[in-house]
Amino acid sequence: MSLLSVRDLSVEFATRDGAVRAVNAVSFELRPGQVLALLGESGSGKSVTLRSILGLHPPVRTRVGGEVLLKGRDVNRLDEQARQALRGGVVSMVFQEPMTALDPVYTIGRQIEETLVQHRGLDRAAARRRARELLDLVQVPSPERCLASYPHEISGGMRQRAMIAIALACEPELLLADEPTTALDVTVQAQILWLLRDLQRRLGLAVIFVTHDLGVAAEIADDAAVMYGGRIVEQAPVRELFRAPAHPYTEGLMLATVRRGQKGRALVPIPGAPPNLVALPPGCAFAPRCPHVKPPCLETLPPLHVVAPGHGSRCHLVPARFASSPALASSATGRGGLS
Ligand SMILES: Nc1ncnc2c1ncn2[C@@H]1O[C@H](COP(=O)(O)OP(=O)(O)O)[C@@H](O)[C@H]1O
Ligand SMILES: [Mg+2]
Repeated sequence: MSLLSVRDLSVEFATRDGAVRAVNAVSFELRPGQVLALLGESGSGKSVTLRSILGLHPPVRTRVGGEVLLKGRDVNRLDEQARQALRGGVVSMVFQEPMTALDPVYTIGRQIEETLVQHRGLDRAAARRRARELLDLVQVPSPERCLASYPHEISGGMRQRAMIAIALACEPELLLADEPTTALDVTVQAQILWLLRDLQRRLGLAVIFVTHDLGVAAEIADDAAVMYGGRIVEQAPVRELFRAPAHPYTEGLMLATVRRGQKGRALVPIPGAPPNLVALPPGCAFAPRCPHVKPPCLETLPPLHVVAPGHGSRCHLVPARFASSPALASSATGRGGLS
């Protein structure tokens, strides 16, 4: 059974300007231990997708459609107590800016212990021992000092390690990491990435990793899903995605990004701006910026074309551009996910 199954997920926010369609008919599956990178420009719906997995959207002015099945249980149909239990035991999140996720008035030790007492039912002494072990696990150099420190007393990298320790305190099977290194210096970014990758392997965690850095995705993910205008426009094993992208938006992202070993190559920004989520066009949302645009692109939403096993693209031009691919014989699987 999949650990996580997201089916036809849609999230809409009512605003003064109209309904913001932040996530539209998103489907994907995640096996235990699998690492999925969610890619895409800012505003493409990555964070909203992750928050949906935790059932974190405020109920007012938010409409959630479709299903998010965590170990077979629909997150959106559980009461708050059951959802809390899932957050405490199955899924945890690491945020971009640990300073906003940590409580400034309690020490790091107190915050880890509190999580352990609440979610794992440990007594104070056991929680204290376990907090120390968790800081060892996330390779904090002086754990005792870190336990006694307030968030503002330690560096950004240490705060992110403490945040990861809290996320791991409940022994989750799925870790959601929303651009966990973006707020850090480059060298610290690399350390945190290595730590996450090491923890993922040692603990057999499934991870969904949000990043706009394709190099990071290549380093740590098995598979990647590219989001645009609140939709997954392409999904593939990560190597396959980089070797043979099958959506013009993915190709654009690659040309616009610095990648290792490609020093000296000119970066080409994608012209134009991301779509207005209040007024999504009837066709492909990328069409207005697409160098290959054809009339159908402006009129109808592209179905999911299977380019190769596990590799799908929502682009009308796939059949013409990848005509030699054998998988295309069984193409256009409609609205569903790939797995
Ligand atoms: N609570 C909200 N109310 C209205 N719009 C929102 C809300 N949360 C997110 N959005 C909008 O949804 C879109 C997707 O946001 P997000 O998932 O945060 O993008 P990403 O993480 O890919 O940068 C953005 O246009 C954002 O402004
Ligand atoms: Mg985001």
